[in-house]
Amino acid sequence: MSHYENYSRTSATYDRTRQAQGVEIIRRLLSHNPLPLSEQVLVDAGCGTGQYSAALIDSVQHIQAIDLNPGMLTVAGNKLQAQIAAGNIELHQGSIDQLPIDAESADAVMVNQVLHHLADDVTAGWPLHQRVFAEFARVLKPGGMVVINSCSHSQLERGFWFYHLIPEAVDRVQQRTADLDVLGSLLQHSGFGEIGHETAIDIIMQGDAYFDADRVLDPQWRDGDSIWALATQAERDNALQKVRTLVDEGELHRFMQRHDETRLQSGQLSFTWAVLA
Ligand SMILES: C[S@@+](CC[C@H](N)C(=O)[O-])C[C@H]1O[C@@H](n2cnc3c(N)ncnc32)[C@H](O)[C@@H]1O
Repeated sequence: MSHYENYSRTSATYDRTRQAQGVEIIRRLLSHNPLPLSEQVLVDAGCGTGQYSAALIDSVQHIQAIDLNPGMLTVAGNKLQAQIAAGNIELHQGSIDQLPIDAESADAVMVNQVLHHLADDVTAGWPLHQRVFAEFARVLKPGGMVVINSCSHSQLERGFWFYHLIPEAVDRVQQRTADLDVLGSLLQHSGFGEIGHETAIDIIMQGDAYFDADRVLDPQWRDGDSIWALATQAERDNALQKVRTLVDEGELHRFMQRHDETRLQSGQLSFTWAVLA
């Protein structure tokens, strides 16, 4: 479960604010396995409304998709009705640290924008992340690959113009986010061998809507990024007041452009991949 975002509520609007981004990267990374992609069994860990499963279902043999939130799974079930009926995908309600999947039954695991929702203890060495990665290692066949789609600390600082409105929330999400080097060491500790990272400079999580600066005042637009849920009510009110002032002064677009410049170097998303030894 996410300890800050209410996915039962957000499930109703999630697909209006987000799209599966970086699918081509995932497809290319998974194709490194000697087993052709079309014969692979893929686990979608934290599948949400099934956007990534829907984008990849025709490329792989079978998908096992897991999410904790029933609302998100209902949307996924509606979207993937035909593929479920055809036996190409199974949806499970469950947690990614206890996958309802047999040992050594999968060729690949993808986990897209989920790990920062784990209520982990950084000071104790990320025990929940360790449990999740041990679970990925259990369900993967030797030589299988995990792909983690996440935002690095530097991308959280430099990749999103509107994060400059809620710096305290950025701080909080950074504390819950294992940075790329930490992900690498934790994966190694869980038995993964070859490990690499790929940054997607040109991919924008919310697509074109990211540039609709005025829509920052629309709660549905804000629901497209769970970081808003990490801002206190007072911080959110301050941020929105600042936006209204910028709108009144005709300065909002310039504010967005100024704070978006660093994204062109950092990008917003990273893909960490690791092969089970
Ligand atoms: C930002 S959404 C990402 C959904 C999907 N992967 C995507 O990229 O569209 C995060 C999802 O992670 C799920 N989640 C959070 N913690 C989880 C856990 N421990 N086990 C399974 N799902 C979890 C939430 O319910 C939510 O659907």
